[in-house]
Amino acid sequence: MRIPLIAGNWKMNTTVAEAEKLASSLRDILDKIEGIEKVLCPPFISLTTLSEVLQGSSVKLGAQNMYFEARGAYTGEISPLMLKGLVEFVILGHSERRSYFGETDELVNKKVQVALDFGLKPILCVGERLEENEAGKTEQVITRQLKGSLANIEPGIDLVIAYEPIWAIGTGKAADGITAATTIKFIRDTLANLWDSDAAQKVRLLYGGSVTGNNIAEFVSQPEIDGALVGGASLKTNEFSSIVGQSVAIKRQGT
Ligand code: PGA
Repeated sequence: MRIPLIAGNWKMNTTVAEAEKLASSLRDILDKIEGIEKVLCPPFISLTTLSEVLQGSSVKLGAQNMYFEARGAYTGEISPLMLKGLVEFVILGHSERRSYFGETDELVNKKVQVALDFGLKPILCVGERLEENEAGKTEQVITRQLKGSLANIEPGIDLVIAYEPIWAIGTGKAADGITAATTIKFIRDTLANLWDSDAAQKVRLLYGGSVTGNNIAEFVSQPEIDGALVGGASLKTNEFSSIVGQSVAIKRQGT
């Protein structure tokens, strides 16, 4: 059985003081919800403070990105060595990194490899653009992203993959549950071809893109979808807690 997971990607939002406040209010509510992994991914600058806020809590931390070298002359970058011990998860290959900062599958692949070497769990993001979706190229794009980002990665790893159609991110236009589940099933089948079906079954597959408390049920009621990567709605205590609470309740009913 895969444990459901809801991760909040705060992106470039919250000062350290705001992050501290948000994390403490989330901690108080989320600690009462069991049977699901809860991960907050604040900006790098707040990770140390939040690791103190979340000491002894069931709420875990993730980073939003990472460089692939452990140390050296890479001005402005954050390394896996710095994140080790501070976070359990790291988001890699988010579409905003790919489109605004030129990240390629090859670069993401190096980051995935290094994250695993340092004992960090990657939340690898894949997803197609609107034009690709409209041209019927979703599966082709996702196959390329998976093969590229997971090249030479051994099967059996503790990996999370978030399917985030780019047209659904921050637009308020989420995919519908059935379409998301169909693509997510395609991702699992692709992993089974790349590795084997046991290894593919272990990977948690999330949906991301305009997830809210109003539509989360549509996604987590699909057995193929193990949770969500939440952007905007993860900045609101009530909204994010509702997403987590509904997810665990729905997943419990399904078992
Ligand atoms: P959104 O972002 O929920 O604000 O659409 C999701 C993401 O980019 O991870």
